[in-house]
Amino acid sequence: MTAASELLERIRTTQARIGIIGLGYVGLPLAVEFARAGFDVTGFDVDEGKIAQINAGKSYIPDVPASELSEVVQKGKLRATSDMAKLGDMDVIDICVPTPLRKTKDPDLSYVVKAVEAAARVLHRGQLVILESTTYPGTTDEVVQPMLEAGGFKAGEDFLLAFSPERVDPGNAQYTTKQIPKVVGGNGAASTEAACALYSRVVASVVPVSSTRVAEMVKLLENTFRAVNIGLVNEIALMSRKMDIDVWEVIDAAKTKPFGFMPFYPGPGLGGHCIPIDPFYLSWKARQSGFECRFIELAGQVNGSMPEYVVQRVADALNSVKKPINGSKIHLFGVAYKRDVNDMRESPALDVLELLIRRGAEVTYSDPWVGQIHEGHHRLKSVDVDTAIAGGFDCAVITTDHAAFDYARLAELPLIVDTRNALKGMTGANIVRL
Ligand SMILES: NC(=O)c1ccc[n+]([C@@H]2O[C@H](COP(=O)([O-])OP(=O)(O)OC[C@H]3O[C@@H](n4cnc5c(N)ncnc54)[C@H](O)[C@@H]3O)[C@@H](O)[C@H]2O)c1
Repeated sequence: MTAASELLERIRTTQARIGIIGLGYVGLPLAVEFARAGFDVTGFDVDEGKIAQINAGKSYIPDVPASELSEVVQKGKLRATSDMAKLGDMDVIDICVPTPLRKTKDPDLSYVVKAVEAAARVLHRGQLVILESTTYPGTTDEVVQPMLEAGGFKAGEDFLLAFSPERVDPGNAQYTTKQIPKVVGGNGAASTEAACALYSRVVASVVPVSSTRVAEMVKLLENTFRAVNIGLVNEIALMSRKMDIDVWEVIDAAKTKPFGFMPFYPGPGLGGHCIPIDPFYLSWKARQSGFECRFIELAGQVNGSMPEYVVQRVADALNSVKKPINGSKIHLFGVAYKRDVNDMRESPALDVLELLIRRGAEVTYSDPWVGQIHEGHHRLKSVDVDTAIAGGFDCAVITTDHAAFDYARLAELPLIVDTRNALKGMTGANIVRL
């Protein structure tokens, strides 16, 4: 039996021991799915707080029900550790660490490099290493492969190597890890086969592609598609305002076309760890080949200008009641980057908050998902909605349309700027839309 066929057999019989590096929004749901499928799973993280919570059966990711997590922990199918030496006991090492941008908008692969260094130290024959972190095309074969091969083993022969982009959409109850098809590109046929065999145990369908580079590019196409289309619809929103047209009504009517149109919605700007960041991984890499990604840069400019535009709408709203931003009390409803998640990464609400404070506003917020904000020098605590309304403010802003807010009640506030069309169908001089 070759090392690859041995691993396939271990996957088929659910004997393969799976190690997941990085137990965040991507890694933890995946670890739980593998454990629920009966695999022996060890999660690796540098955050001792997360490790303690997992081992206590407590979930810190809203999409992972505590009951599912505690069940697999109690059954001994899932545990977490910071001891990277234990990676040596794994048949599969799946890397789900962050891939942020540096201040210069260049890719920051330092987390991936650290995780791969840890894997390289313990690499043994027959292991399958998969990178899931979103990154530029070429990362797996130009960065990961040489690091793993430095000890003398050869990828695709002695050990297997693949890239499989994660497509999880936090807060989306309709499509969870299990239901989302998984794209897999291996370093050679044996690597692709092993990674496909593994994922087909936990996800509904697996889509093999010809190489790791194709798989890396698939993810960047998907996220660039979103960033560019959101940029387009934000621009349409800005021009519609100038032409006194309700952009939300336009989109609702346009989406009745059964083909050739897909709705995207304007908003206060891009947020999260993916859409504002990933396209710049692609433009950085393309630039190395002498190619300028014009769509990505333009979408970045339009989307990046939206918080400023929201502040302008707030200024217009206050102006209509003869008040300036300076000295006004402004209350934000929702600060997470999108509805019904607790993720604050790159949240445009933070930019809106910062811009309002800089203009002299007294800003407070309510968010059932985010108890406090530490932004720059600002330390704010979420105020319960009743207390906030009872205290009064000059203007409210719906920055994130969480399901928990009572929108009929918010529509009664004296002045409210709605950046998400959460007050759809409600009218009044007090309501100002994006
Ligand atoms: N969040 C999403 O919606 C989403 C969706 C698809 C893809 N992705 C991609 O998946 C990757 C992970 O994103 P995420 O949102 O899960 O990030 P996250 O920050 O929620 O989780 C990453 C985890 O990795 C840990 N970590 C960092 N360095 C480590 C190391 N050297 N060893 C072990 N653990 C380490 C962190 O402590 C953290 O717990 C990124 O590349 C992201 O672009 C994210």
